Amino acid sequence: KDVVKIGVAGLGTVGAGTVKLLSEHRDLLTDRSGRQIVVTAVSARDRTRDRGFSTEGLTWYDDARDLAADKDIDILVELIGGSDGIAYDTCKAALENGKHVVTANKALIALKGAELARIADANNVTIAYEAAVAGGIPVIKALREGLAGNEISRVTGILNGTCNYILTTMREQGRDFADVLAEAQKLGYAEADPTFDVDGIDAAHKLAILASLAFGVEVDFDAVAVEGIRSVSALDIQLAEELGYRIKLLGIAKQTAEGIEQRVSPVMVDRATQISKVEGVFNAVALEGDYVGPVVLQGRGAGERPTASAVVADIVDIAAGRAAPVFGLPADRLKKNVRASLEKHVGA
Ligand code: HSE
Repeated sequence: KDVVKIGVAGLGTVGAGTVKLLSEHRDLLTDRSGRQIVVTAVSARDRTRDRGFSTEGLTWYDDARDLAADKDIDILVELIGGSDGIAYDTCKAALENGKHVVTANKALIALKGAELARIADANNVTIAYEAAVAGGIPVIKALREGLAGNEISRVTGILNGTCNYILTTMREQGRDFADVLAEAQKLGYAEADPTFDVDGIDAAHKLAILASLAFGVEVDFDAVAVEGIRSVSALDIQLAEELGYRIKLLGIAKQTAEGIEQRVSPVMVDRATQISKVEGVFNAVALEGDYVGPVVLQGRGAGERPTASAVVADIVDIAAGRAAPVFGLPADRLKKNVRASLEKHVGA
């Protein structure tokens, strides 16, 4: 059987999880893709750290940009993070070198996705990012493939596991925000800079990506109105509870008569709804299609194994010859986003 060679840039929680999954499920993945998927090269700063797998026989690079130039690899998996600097340079170089890219980097896709999609198209490769939105939930595939026959009118989601974990724990234990944040960081859910989580920026990155796929427009992160959960108190949560509501950080993107509205904010969600019952590190995405009606997906939105699960799904697709257009259609057919004026459309 022929071999697909993988280079993994970044060996943090998700990078290590991806290497382990590829090795533990080697035979299953060969059956599913029809090819042998082998990690041949990696890049990470610290060569000595124990990551729970053997690095023997792997080509090591200190700089991910050198990995992107490695002639031997077919797919570059970028798990460094950040929308510019090394992650951007590495992904761009890999695409220009004719390599497919798989990434979990939501900031990169939200801020540079349109440009990278054009580079990918020009080089007949793709940049796949299932892991960038809602961790292990296959929501990118759901929108791009499963719901391809529908006009989508609305996307609503709990898109940040750290915030959902914090809100859930504050409610269950009556604890304060700062105290619970430290716990989410220890569990490996939070971003390197947790302000991205608690200020709603991470959820906004993910929402902008979903809106692009759902509505066929270029990603427009700047159009998202963002408010985080710092100001939510244990008392707010308790009072909402008494009124029959649960406070969730929701991302909402919808079509309106004047354009697309995108918003991330804490919302009082009726406790009778499915989304209000999604707790802890779990994420959920509710989609509304004109033929299918409502669809709700839920699962773990962060952490080593769920995120690795999504990274590997993209690797298997590409290995099997199913590289999809980055945002569901060729980049030059994505429309410019038309924004709705947010003042007129407050609320869920
Ligand atoms: N910090 C993110 C979260 C990780 O908590 O959801 C997954 O994108």
